Amino acid sequence: MGTEQKATNIVWHQATVSKSEREQINGHRGATLWLTGLSGSGKSTIANILEKMLWERGVRSYVLDGDNVRHGLNKDLGFSDQDRNENIRRIGEVAKLFTEAGVMTVTAFISPFRQDRDRVREIMNDGDFIEIYVKCDLDECEKRDPKGLYKKARSGEIKEFTGISSPYEEPERAEIVLENTAKTAEQSADEILAYLESNGYLA
Ligand SMILES: Nc1ncnc2c1ncn2[C@@H]1O[C@H](COP(=O)(O)OP(=O)(O)O)[C@@H](O)[C@H]1O
Ligand SMILES: [Mg+2]
Repeated sequence: MGTEQKATNIVWHQATVSKSEREQINGHRGATLWLTGLSGSGKSTIANILEKMLWERGVRSYVLDGDNVRHGLNKDLGFSDQDRNENIRRIGEVAKLFTEAGVMTVTAFISPFRQDRDRVREIMNDGDFIEIYVKCDLDECEKRDPKGLYKKARSGEIKEFTGISSPYEEPERAEIVLENTAKTAEQSADEILAYLESNGYLA
């Protein structure tokens, strides 16, 4: 799966400025807010509203979004199970770097496989990985279909589409579950902000 160590004779170099020193200067913690859910569930919409809210409070933040990352870093990857594994592995590593840099990192990827998400959780320090399930009924996602992808998946034009022809594994221990079928994206973003506040991430 490309996760084994290939190079030998490489030694970890300890950073001079620590994460907690960066956090002190920033006035908030660095963490990864990992949004997972079906296509059209609202991940990108919520991520961007949330980032605006964070930005207005002076929080250093960054959004890593599925389609954008697939244009660059992961342009060599498709949607087979193996490529999805590698897609999430690389994003997890990037999110970890941002987190170590003290940034409030918001990721918006379907990330359908539990094992892939759990692996990202494992490489992060305790409390640095906040799994957020953007829960939305398939029917509702298909009705929204902002990019016309469900239509293409139903007609067979897109293969391996999550929820239609590729599985989505719901989180079992998400820190936050957003019931996003009935709520507005603003309400969902508010809920995340409230979690960050009451758990000391923004203090
Ligand atoms: N409660 C809601 N939360 C988020 N998006 C919503 C909501 N209601 C309607 N939408 C619409 O649904 C679509 C969600 O798309 P998007 O955020 O791109 O989802 P994802 O990134 O999960 O694929 C957008 O067009 C958005 O305007
Ligand atoms: Mg999106």
